[in-house]
Amino acid sequence: MNPHLAKLQPYPFERLRKLFEGLVPAQGKKPIALSIGEPKHPTPPLVQQALIEGLARLANYPTTPGMLPLREAIARWIARRHGVPSPDPATQILPVAGSREALFAFAQAVVTGSRSDPVVVMPNPCYQIYEGGALLAGAEPAYLNSLPANGFAPDHAQLPDDVWRRTVLLYACSPDNPTGRVMSFADWKRLFELSDRHGFVIAADECYSEIYFDEARPPLGALAAARMLGRDDYRNLVVFGSLSKRSNVPGMRSGFVAGDARLIRTFLLYRTYHGTAMSDVVALASIAAWNDEAHVVANRALYARKFQLLQPLVDAALPCAYPEAAFYLWAKTPIPDQDLARRLFVEQAVTVLPGSFIGRTSNQVNPGENFIRIALVDSLDECTDAVARIVETVRTL
Ligand SMILES: Cc1ncc(COP(=O)(O)O)c(C=O)c1O
Repeated sequence: MNPHLAKLQPYPFERLRKLFEGLVPAQGKKPIALSIGEPKHPTPPLVQQALIEGLARLANYPTTPGMLPLREAIARWIARRHGVPSPDPATQILPVAGSREALFAFAQAVVTGSRSDPVVVMPNPCYQIYEGGALLAGAEPAYLNSLPANGFAPDHAQLPDDVWRRTVLLYACSPDNPTGRVMSFADWKRLFELSDRHGFVIAADECYSEIYFDEARPPLGALAAARMLGRDDYRNLVVFGSLSKRSNVPGMRSGFVAGDARLIRTFLLYRTYHGTAMSDVVALASIAAWNDEAHVVANRALYARKFQLLQPLVDAALPCAYPEAAFYLWAKTPIPDQDLARRLFVEQAVTVLPGSFIGRTSNQVNPGENFIRIALVDSLDECTDAVARIVETVRTL
């Protein structure tokens, strides 16, 4: 058996199931899950329609580079959204079956066998796929703590130079899950300088890029930051985008990678064997989704309203900053995070994710400890009900 499999950590939702084992949730209260980052706003009819109209394409095997019209639609969207020249659909873009598989597979393509002692750097806490991707690629994960004192910026100063020298790949997450922090131009400049100095590749996870609260201030993306610095070939940079949160289609499994043509070529070769080519049916629906912004604006308005109403209520009970983007509240707990999660489940039938499950102990701290992640993905009514119940329990502590 692959010995690296034994190094994988249990997935946070598996740990949550264990945490609740034997507990009985409050009777007479409707269970509400704020633990999982699954968008629950309705899927736009135009995407459903395009899927139905594309069904005849089930008769075709899809190709690994995917349909050219899809790569063209993604290129146009990137140019519109990020104010950069359209990337070359032939060499700088690949469709992927959701960003999760791509974030994982990219480590296998870039890291495996690259050197005898590779390191993959990631924020802490982070989306666990980065860690799993690193471990299965035979690398040592290195964690950059994101702490409140730093405004939740991953602490690059934490790693000594000999670790940076061994670094082959770094995952950046902006907007960040779970903190909602968005990387600034200065952050990107520093990261590109580190990448130039040590020669590592940057995987920029931007799956929350379209969930933000001020229409006038969309989050800066990595491709735009690179262009502003004259890095027109996006050297050593690949961005991961997704329709899951933008268009409320997590079940469609549709996203893209875009950036450095040399890395895209390597990744395409890997993917030919990996075998995750996107179905043409999904590709046609994805074209409809990338070509339309009206549903994305409407979706953001729903989140903006929820956060306007509910963040102050949560903040008064469990201190949490107003996130810059994404759909989470990262809230400080007055008792250990796992104890609070258990009490909310038992007393209120509300499920939240203990921060310690998605953090790792690094420099003697687990930055997720004494935080909970609250995903405001449900309807306003459900979220309002859940928040009122959370506040009720916190008042009794
Ligand atoms: C930070 C982050 N990246 C990537 C993903 C994967 O999204 P998808 O595979 O649906 O594109 C998620 C999903 O929750 C996430 O939180």
